[in-house]
Amino acid sequence: MHRFETEEINEWKNLLIGYRFALNEMNTKLTILNEEFEMIHNYNPIEHIKSRLKNPKSIIRKMNHKGLEMTQENVEANIRDIAGIRITCSFTKDIYAIVDALKQQDDIRILEVKDYIQHPKPNGYRSLHIITEVPVFFSNHKKWMKVEVQIRTVAMDFWASLEHKIYYKFGKEVPEHILQEIKQSADMIAELDRKMESINEEVNILKSQAEKVAQK
Ligand code: GTP
Ligand code: MG
Repeated sequence: MHRFETEEINEWKNLLIGYRFALNEMNTKLTILNEEFEMIHNYNPIEHIKSRLKNPKSIIRKMNHKGLEMTQENVEANIRDIAGIRITCSFTKDIYAIVDALKQQDDIRILEVKDYIQHPKPNGYRSLHIITEVPVFFSNHKKWMKVEVQIRTVAMDFWASLEHKIYYKFGKEVPEHILQEIKQSADMIAELDRKMESINEEVNILKSQAEKVAQK
């Protein structure tokens, strides 16, 4: 192999390692947030966290799809989900509590917030996406690296993973009536989230009333 090729491969490897560090960094922040929240409120807003690195093949596919030349600068500027984290919560309000907490950290940059909960996609997809940047410390420099964070309820996650499977099973041509049924299911999921949230609120009120009585 030519020296140039090996050098180039090493540069790409370094870039991807950077994204792995960014992912670790963000995971740590989220774990701390969750544990602190648990300590203060006796409740943890995060059900689970899943993270993944986009593989080189998918990065190349996305670059081709966008019609961009495969340079590191282009990849860094245009592929914002190389490092991806998905957080699932119990209730919609937890999602906004997590975003607010992330916004308050001065070593997280929030580049973009896409609220598909307030504004669901036409197919019914709901989730909150944020494009963040976290500083990654290498031996001789610091670099801000992008991490896409998707936050959704367990119910939204259930819908999204099934919709994704159906979509891929059919390829691009999903029959119209199935699309309608998927959208209807999304509406039912949204209704379910609202219902669970109002039950939870009622339980919280009853609990605090019971505590007040007990204190008397
Ligand atoms: P890319 O899709 O990343 O090129 O950028 P975008 O600007 O379209 O981002 P968007 O925030 O819309 O979606 C990013 C990610 O969210 C996707 O890679 C999926 O993981 C998820 N997502 C978005 N839309 C859907 C959807 O309709 N169904 C499902 N199941 N997941 C979706
Ligand atoms: Mg997309």
